[in-house]
Amino acid sequence: MAQINPSILSADFARLAQEAEAVRGSDWLHVDVMDNHFVPNLTLGIPVVESLSRATDIPLDCHLMIEDPDRWAPQYVEAGAGSVTFHVEAAAAPVRLAREIRAKGARASMALKPGTPIEPYEDLLPELDMLLIMTVEPGFGGQAFLDIMLPKIRRTRELIAKHDLELWLQVDGGVSASTIERCAEAGADVFVAGSAVYGAEDPAQAVAGLRSLAES
Ligand code: DX5
Ligand code: ZN
Repeated sequence: MAQINPSILSADFARLAQEAEAVRGSDWLHVDVMDNHFVPNLTLGIPVVESLSRATDIPLDCHLMIEDPDRWAPQYVEAGAGSVTFHVEAAAAPVRLAREIRAKGARASMALKPGTPIEPYEDLLPELDMLLIMTVEPGFGGQAFLDIMLPKIRRTRELIAKHDLELWLQVDGGVSASTIERCAEAGADVFVAGSAVYGAEDPAQAVAGLRSLAES
């Protein structure tokens, strides 16, 4: 079944509790953490994740676009994240880090920027609960979906099948009513959507619409 994770990057940061409420029925809330070093943008950090986890029942899917995730990612589990995604480009010891996230009780996930291939990381897949394939350059919401990522999604789905893994395959960036079917067809099963959800008049209805397209 397809999961839709609204990204609060496109929400009103002064009203996060209400913005979470507006997407009731979503599987996870996607929380983009940016440090102005790994990506050229700055968003929020541990105190906001702590507050948000108390303010909503929707589990938090924290996407860390930060340097030194080896140091910070475990603290996001303590702050209340149910899933923590680190970027492989920034991690010093991805296997150790994934194990630490799992040991602390969250789902461990690893992200690949558009220019990062999956093949060198095939042997790491059993250490993960989710793999995130970025379909835009990380840093900003509202960018155009990169169609050239579809073959990578397809190849990753093949690797997951080859190793018979229970790994979720997430896509993030430019996912909308006009691109989600292509992602699903290529093998993604978890869909992050920021502007397509929070830019809609009725965010909950946008989530339902995306879900039915992904499952069609
Ligand atoms: C971008 C973030 C995304 C962003 C997606 O770096 O990781 O989660 O919120 O926004 P849309 O869906 O508008 O492309
Ligand atoms: Zn994200």
